[in-house]
Amino acid sequence: MIYAEILAGGSGTRMGNTDLPKQFMMLGTKPIIIHTIEQFMIEQRINKIVVCCPKNWISYMQDILKKYIPEENNIVVVEGGATRNETIINGCKYIEENFGLNDDDIIITHDAVRPFITRRIIEDNIKVGLTCDAVDTVIPATDTIVECKEGEVISNIPDRRIMYQGQTPQTFKIKKLMKIYGSLSEEEKNILTDACKMFVIKKGKVKIVMGEDFNVKVTTMHDYKICNAILMERNK
Ligand code: CTP
Repeated sequence: MIYAEILAGGSGTRMGNTDLPKQFMMLGTKPIIIHTIEQFMIEQRINKIVVCCPKNWISYMQDILKKYIPEENNIVVVEGGATRNETIINGCKYIEENFGLNDDDIIITHDAVRPFITRRIIEDNIKVGLTCDAVDTVIPATDTIVECKEGEVISNIPDRRIMYQGQTPQTFKIKKLMKIYGSLSEEEKNILTDACKMFVIKKGKVKIVMGEDFNVKVTTMHDYKICNAILMERNK
């Protein structure tokens, strides 16, 4: 089975607008998260879309699904977790409890706040995800990456040609992901901000697929303005 998980469990503190989590802010005529979900609805091979959001936003999420995508009945809304990784695992647990799990079941996890995800990126994640344990979506680094361990003096400047910037989706064999997460110590869990990094530190193989420059994440108001500009350009 192929599942998609839309990660909407955050509250968007870096937007400075905590009344309405950024995934629910309007982008053109609909909320950001609706743009994102619609892209996953296009892919027929996805058996179920699991949307994870904060507990007190679940009924709001269900309401906007009814409003903007009334015909869709393949989406479930479940509670997210305290961290992004916990949110991912909550979605996996929901799948395990409600549908059972086979070794080759995969989950395509995607930030709700990356509304310009494309069909091609989703297809590549499925294609590669079916052949390995984990997939990350990346774009080549355009700026030189400067490492500065103590925050004062540069410790390294890696060769830009082998540097990439991580985006989402990240796709996993669900059983492997849950097993690796279960094997982490609390300390490891605290330092792991990225789900693919779990596989990397446990010496698992993570393959890459190419994202797009415009597959941007809304983190700050600046990103939100960029998304509005992209949308206006597309609507011309
Ligand atoms: N996310 C999640 N569960 C969490 C935290 C984050 O599902 N406990 C999701 C967010 O909703 C978002 C994506 O992960 O779609 C990327 O995270 P980020 O941009 O850090 O979102 P927030 O945590 O909402 O933002 P901030 O860090 O500014 O508070």
